[in-house]
Amino acid sequence: MSANSVQSVCILGRQPALGLAELESLYGADAVSVVNPRVAGLNLHASEVDFGRLGGSTRVAHVMTTLPTTDWKALERKLPELITELALTLPDGKIQLGLSAFGLKISPAKLNAAGLTLKKTLRTRTDRSVRITPNPEVELNTAQVLHNHLTSPTGIELLLIASNNGDTVVARTTQTQDIDSYTLRDRGRPKRDARVGMLPPKLAQIIINLAGTHLPPSTKTDRSLPYNQHPPQAQLLDPFCGTGVLLQEAILLGYAVQGTDIEPRMIDYTRTNLDWANTTFRNAPAPYTLEQGDATTHQWKQPVDLVACETYLGRPFTAKPSSEVLAQTVSEVNLILKKFLQNIHGQLVSGTRLCLAVPAWQTAPGQFKHLPLIDQVGELRYNRVSLEHVQASQLLYYREDQIVARELLVLTRK
Ligand SMILES: C[S@@+](CC[C@H](N)C(=O)[O-])C[C@H]1O[C@@H](n2cnc3c(N)ncnc32)[C@H](O)[C@@H]1O
Repeated sequence: MSANSVQSVCILGRQPALGLAELESLYGADAVSVVNPRVAGLNLHASEVDFGRLGGSTRVAHVMTTLPTTDWKALERKLPELITELALTLPDGKIQLGLSAFGLKISPAKLNAAGLTLKKTLRTRTDRSVRITPNPEVELNTAQVLHNHLTSPTGIELLLIASNNGDTVVARTTQTQDIDSYTLRDRGRPKRDARVGMLPPKLAQIIINLAGTHLPPSTKTDRSLPYNQHPPQAQLLDPFCGTGVLLQEAILLGYAVQGTDIEPRMIDYTRTNLDWANTTFRNAPAPYTLEQGDATTHQWKQPVDLVACETYLGRPFTAKPSSEVLAQTVSEVNLILKKFLQNIHGQLVSGTRLCLAVPAWQTAPGQFKHLPLIDQVGELRYNRVSLEHVQASQLLYYREDQIVARELLVLTRK
């Protein structure tokens, strides 16, 4: 895709590869480009991006123009004209202006100075009063964008993004992640269980989006409608549902869901959590089916259109295990997951997509022990989905000090 066809950009989250993979899965490889390591370009208008369903992007912005330079002085000369044109299109009221730079060689002080110049420009040329959001860093964070109303009708967050090919993309933020909603969906759930781990809702969304094939425009959810008015969509299965974070996110995205777990207690927890999500976020409750079942032998209710889950991760480790203990854990998890893939194979139609968050163990900084079955998916009669913009080996979610990472394995049934 050429830089000129980039209509919007997404600022990628803490693990950019996951956000990029999610966009490619949803919108198709041709619609996505890599602007720089932190920013993805899309050939969709920002209003067409179904932003609420993205777990891996922190904001989406409308591209105003692309300038053929990354030189700060040259950019500074262009900004007054751009901002004046934009201000003339805004409704009455005080303008809230913030600047964020991605990949440009510049300091917060320079951005603050540029903000003040633009404030003066707008006062003189358009007679508008302007409040500038100060830059402690060159990038404003999501909370700063929200608290300073930069996505309101009279708000402007101007993004200046150095692209890999030496241009600067200038864009205006239209939406940011709803931090409060994510916090509620994570910490506000009535039943939580530290032992089975805490799947962050954003990661659950990424897993679901990687299990879904890319969306034809007609199925794009209409952001002006509340969740409960979304048409009933595909049947999603989580065979290791635990306390139900993934199922919760799936019902909020409009899927009909089915969940199973080997522990009856987890099924009770998930039921309580899904009832809570249904009453907290939706007017009409989404249907769900829950049943206790061992994923290595269970027969699921048909149809199953997609499988998305965080599987059994084995023992949690807070310190590096001995090589014997690690080998034993790897082999135990590998056997369960192999049996699961064999069991479910006959219950899925050919082409059904699965995204499984499976464990990978960090043995040294940035080095991982992977499940042996990953190299045997062909023999198990699955294809590993390859993405154009992201290598399969980059689909790892972890924090630096974590032993057990989650590896996102995207498969289709042969
Ligand atoms: C890492 S947790 C999943 C957590 C879940 N994402 C959540 O939101 O809480 C894995 C779950 O797999 C379940 N499990 C382990 N072995 C299983 C098996 N053979 N069949 C089905 N569930 C199993 C455990 O009881 C546990 O709840």
